[in-house]
Amino acid sequence: KEVKQIRVSLLEWYDKNRRELPWREKSENDGGGEEEKRAYGVWVSEIMLQQTRVQTVIEYYNRWMNKWPTIHHLAQASLEEVNEMWAGLGYYRRARFLLEGAKMIVDGGGGFPNTVSALRKVPGIGNYTAGAVASIAFKEAVPVVDGNVIRVLARLKAISANPKDSLTVKKFWKLAAQLVDPCRPGDFNQSLMELGATVCTPLNLSCASCPVSSQCRALSMSKHDSSVLVTDY
Ligand code: ADE
Repeated sequence: KEVKQIRVSLLEWYDKNRRELPWREKSENDGGGEEEKRAYGVWVSEIMLQQTRVQTVIEYYNRWMNKWPTIHHLAQASLEEVNEMWAGLGYYRRARFLLEGAKMIVDGGGGFPNTVSALRKVPGIGNYTAGAVASIAFKEAVPVVDGNVIRVLARLKAISANPKDSLTVKKFWKLAAQLVDPCRPGDFNQSLMELGATVCTPLNLSCASCPVSSQCRALSMSKHDSSVLVTDY
């Protein structure tokens, strides 16, 4: 029951507060190969977002999609072109992985991998990117955990967390898997990331505008012990 309440509150908040980002489709139209097109955009954006902030990514993303609107276009690109497009984003390995991944997916001829386990076989796609693409583009009910999600869940459940400790991170993947909304997994995952980025921030958090403040164990504990809301990540 508590889980359901958390899902409903987060999704309602997300519907009202989500930012319009170029890789987020405006309408939920499915079928007709739409999923594959969306998957390519989600993949490119999530790779870019791994080490770069949203504001910077928007510009790079739009230029990238202009030059290579589909994965088939990207598969024809050269490493030089891809690196040139990436200039300024850093971690150029990410650009090379996108190119290698595109070639592999196109050459395989089986369409865009649409499950976490198939996505994990693509170069450069780890748990995070596989979960993001599978849930956002293909509605697979899988979790996505990044630093923002860890902070939100750590506070919600009053779990002390060190995001650099792999055992802790595992625990949060498990917790996120129990929470993810089976009907709207992509929106649910993005609501957690968005909440962490805009409301449940490391410092100066805004619990007053948080949709799950009434379920937040750290907030209720903070009335006696103000240190529980403090995180260093
Ligand atoms: N950070 C990384 N990916 C994101 C997404 N899809 N939505 C919001 N924040 C993100």
